[in-house]
Amino acid sequence: ETVEWDPEGAAKGGYDHFMRKEIEEQPTALRQAIRGRVGTDDRRTPADLESLPRDSLAGVERVHFVGMGTSYHAAMYGASVVDWGIPAQAYLSGEYADRTPEPDEGTLVVAVTQSGETADTLEAVRRANEHGARTLAVTNVVGSTATRDCDDSLFIRAGPEVGVAATKTFSAQIATLALLRERLHTDTVGAHSDDIDERLTALERLPSLVEQTIEDSPVRSIAREFDDSDAYFFIGRGTGRSVALEGALKFKEITYEHAEGFAASELKHGPLALVTTETPVFAVFTGYDDEALLTSVEEVSARGAPVVGIGADPTGALAERVDHLLELPDTHPDVAGVLANVQLQLFAYHAADRIGRPIDKPRNLAKCVTVE
Ligand code: AGP
Repeated sequence: ETVEWDPEGAAKGGYDHFMRKEIEEQPTALRQAIRGRVGTDDRRTPADLESLPRDSLAGVERVHFVGMGTSYHAAMYGASVVDWGIPAQAYLSGEYADRTPEPDEGTLVVAVTQSGETADTLEAVRRANEHGARTLAVTNVVGSTATRDCDDSLFIRAGPEVGVAATKTFSAQIATLALLRERLHTDTVGAHSDDIDERLTALERLPSLVEQTIEDSPVRSIAREFDDSDAYFFIGRGTGRSVALEGALKFKEITYEHAEGFAASELKHGPLALVTTETPVFAVFTGYDDEALLTSVEEVSARGAPVVGIGADPTGALAERVDHLLELPDTHPDVAGVLANVQLQLFAYHAADRIGRPIDKPRNLAKCVTVE
């Protein structure tokens, strides 16, 4: 019989949705982001990053990251990775253009934008350029407006992302920012960080750990268990906070259910009033401040909220204190959040699929927001 040619179906590679395909493409996207950029010499400093060869960032005194949505969360993640050697802060692009510390010639403004066309972020770049700051686009699209408006560009090499919900580009942004950090640290502090070998090795191992996390994830059953909850909360600390915000964004934008991500330390200052036996709480453990996060878990468990812990659990301490554990392979705290985020991407996907949402094209949203 004749087989109807289905170009979109073929483009989805046999998956039901582009988003699912792009979750699966993360190991490849990460390998592409890292390829040729991790130095192999004995000093283990990163290789030349295209337009940013060694010492090209000497003289930078501070870093301002700007981004929106998932890219803002990646920027936050990048900024919260400890010790850039110089002050590093992430700002929402939409806030940066008006009311933040003025950038000057000693400031490197890093525009994190997968499309390179987000109006808020382009506006932040315009302001940075006006104040004489150095501007760098960390983007997925060659020839995008951000690459033309910034002094330099660093590509995340994730390949085209069709689903409106960003998945593989978040992971590729984190990997690219990790390499940028090593470059900046080496150029500004004059020596690479003493644990650079550990960090770069963890980065090189990340693609296969993502593969393993996707293969082993039991999260589909979690989506089934909580599919009629009132609200969904995501909490974390440090880079885990960025992942908590990202997990909530992923969930709300494709299920249309109420979800909120926040710093675990915020719970007692308000959000705890919303916690009931019907509101599952996802706690993102990354190896930073895990003990303090466990205290937050106890606060919500005491109110009867089901807790899903996401993290490595070499000692079994997590499994004792949460209702469900999405266990991750053990790795460096700087990259553990990428693995946790893969679990939350899959959770959002399966939850949305169960209720039949148009996952690749959620209502009211566009892949690229070219208006402010
Ligand atoms: C995230 O899933 C959304 N697609 C949206 O928040 C997106 O991250 C944001 O609009 C920024 O887009 P950009 O990375 O292309 O600048």
